[in-house]
Amino acid sequence: MSDPRWSAVDDYIADKLIGEDAVQAATLENNQQAGLPPIDVSQAQGKLLQLLARGVSASRILEIGTLGGYSTIWLARALGEGGQLVTLELDPEYAAVARKNIDNAGLGDVVDIRIGPASETLEAMCAQGEAAFDFIFVDADKENYAAYLDYATRLSRPGTMLVFDNVVREGEVINPQSSDPKVPGTRQLYDALHGNPRIDATAVQTVGSKKWDGFLLALVR
Ligand code: SAH
Ligand code: DHB
Ligand code: MG
Repeated sequence: MSDPRWSAVDDYIADKLIGEDAVQAATLENNQQAGLPPIDVSQAQGKLLQLLARGVSASRILEIGTLGGYSTIWLARALGEGGQLVTLELDPEYAAVARKNIDNAGLGDVVDIRIGPASETLEAMCAQGEAAFDFIFVDADKENYAAYLDYATRLSRPGTMLVFDNVVREGEVINPQSSDPKVPGTRQLYDALHGNPRIDATAVQTVGSKKWDGFLLALVR
């Protein structure tokens, strides 16, 4: 399901409110050259993530699911002096592409890419007493979204903002019998948040160049 007006309006938004961005255009070009799937957030969504992170004055950001670093760069640009971003990626080849893009964006010193299954990396981070993050963006394997919520809360402080991508999936999220294998994991995230006393959450549906999907936004109490 898609309507050509969704992308056209995204272009209009980018033209009026975001503008030319040679660094991020190169990121997407490099990703394509390297054969990465085009499943990065859109330009308007990347800027939304950046504004949210700036809005909570984030100085420590965690991202789960790096791909080629497109969303990473949007988020890392939200950091002030001395800020840090840790991003987790399963695939070493994707991580290498991301490393190049992040260095090209002048953010090499700010971004720490940790390679491996995110659950293992997160478990190690918790065990090693990693300092709390101010903003956490979850965008990796949807099958593990409920586990990532658990790790995200353990790595949070009161007021930490959590954002999960792809929580609507063309409306399939309300279909318990969905043939989309990523749906049950997404529904487990909603179930874990239903009546959760520690986390206030909402989700907003989006349409645009990335079709019909949505973000789930939450604040840790
Ligand atoms: N945030 C990126 C897009 C991420 S796509 C952007 O918007 O630019 C999802 C990424 O999660 C892929 O790169 C995939 O390799 C990674 N991924 C999938 N399973 C994972 C796992 N178990 N641990 C860490 N990363 C994983
Ligand atoms: C997929 C993953 C994403 O993070 C996304 O934004 C879109 C699609 C996917 O795995 O199909
Ligand atoms: Mg996504």
